[in-house]
Amino acid sequence: MATKINCLNPIAGVGLDMLNDNYEITDTFEDADGVLVRSAAMHDLDMPDSLKAIARAGAGVNNIPLDKCAEKGIVVFNTPGANANGVKELVLAGLMLASRDIVGGIEWVKENISDENIAKSAEKAKKAFAGSEIKGKKLGVIGLGAIGVIVANAASALGMEVYGCDPYLSVYNALNLSRNVHLVKNREDIYSKCDFITVHVPLLDDTRGMINEEAINSMKDGVVILNFARDILANDGDLAAALESGKVAKYVTDFPNANVVKMKNTIVIPHLGASTEESEDNCAVMAVQQMVDFIENGNIVNSVNYPACNAGVCQSAGRITICHRNVPNLISNCAGVFSGAGVNIEHMFDKSRGDYAYSIIDIASPSTDEMVKKLEAIDGVLKVRIIK
Ligand code: MLT
Repeated sequence: MATKINCLNPIAGVGLDMLNDNYEITDTFEDADGVLVRSAAMHDLDMPDSLKAIARAGAGVNNIPLDKCAEKGIVVFNTPGANANGVKELVLAGLMLASRDIVGGIEWVKENISDENIAKSAEKAKKAFAGSEIKGKKLGVIGLGAIGVIVANAASALGMEVYGCDPYLSVYNALNLSRNVHLVKNREDIYSKCDFITVHVPLLDDTRGMINEEAINSMKDGVVILNFARDILANDGDLAAALESGKVAKYVTDFPNANVVKMKNTIVIPHLGASTEESEDNCAVMAVQQMVDFIENGNIVNSVNYPACNAGVCQSAGRITICHRNVPNLISNCAGVFSGAGVNIEHMFDKSRGDYAYSIIDIASPSTDEMVKKLEAIDGVLKVRIIK
């Protein structure tokens, strides 16, 4: 039977074309094995028992109920880095738009199209839109993930003095960060130092509303804030007051909402950061690759609710995967099922992440439904799959 994949949003063809005849694109969510999604809101959906994986073609996963999925043994993937260049390029444009009044200047030209002497008038009018250069200015990058790192490196290459902070900086991202970027310990160091501040953190409980009155008060007067991550990282009321008073000179965001579009001194872009053809293709390819590797081999790469666990392609006679709670004795109880059946375990991979864990078990004979039933009966086991 074909593996059913439901797309909750349009997914680039270059990704879907990677699905071979073992897969079928279905219009129904209710019996899907896998779901590909971009921004569709999934919080209120009932997750079907058939569902094994959700792959988000993009970085942010605030539209997906991660814990509810983990509890049902549904592994959620995202595609970190796949759209990073698209977002980086728009952040650089945002820096330029904020420092030179390019938008105001273009508007002025549009308003004066019937002026036969526009070349001369422009020379007089242009002072109002002149602005300043970004070279030599201090940029703070909060969050040095796939996007933050390349924004920091590019801004540094453009001559900005760049400061970055990230308490969860990975070794990979640290190695990719330009040595010209000054690493600081926390956001407060960025707030007190920088002329421009750009936010590249995921939306989590401790980042929601982080651009609030307290944070803004510790920033320099006339600071420019860029938000290409998620709108509710900023507290709209506090931001509006700071834009009104001039404490924040400009707010550049890729997330329009009913409040922000009415605020003074904002440049609001309609979520275009990752909407380039290249980014959409990259995200679709990565999302499909990760989902296929999980469906066919049980491997987990880039999950946001289960640990990474990669056992390659199964070389044994059988492979079973288990999504389970991270509790004592569960592994030995699972191993007992195989020893009880007289089956040798050839390799066993078990990784945990917070309250959840994942096992890939390669065995010396083909997996059976009987083994699955016994494993499913163990307290704490959430989903069992036969891979081989
Ligand atoms: C992301 O989260 O990857 C970006 O905001 C782009 C998108 O939502 O597709």
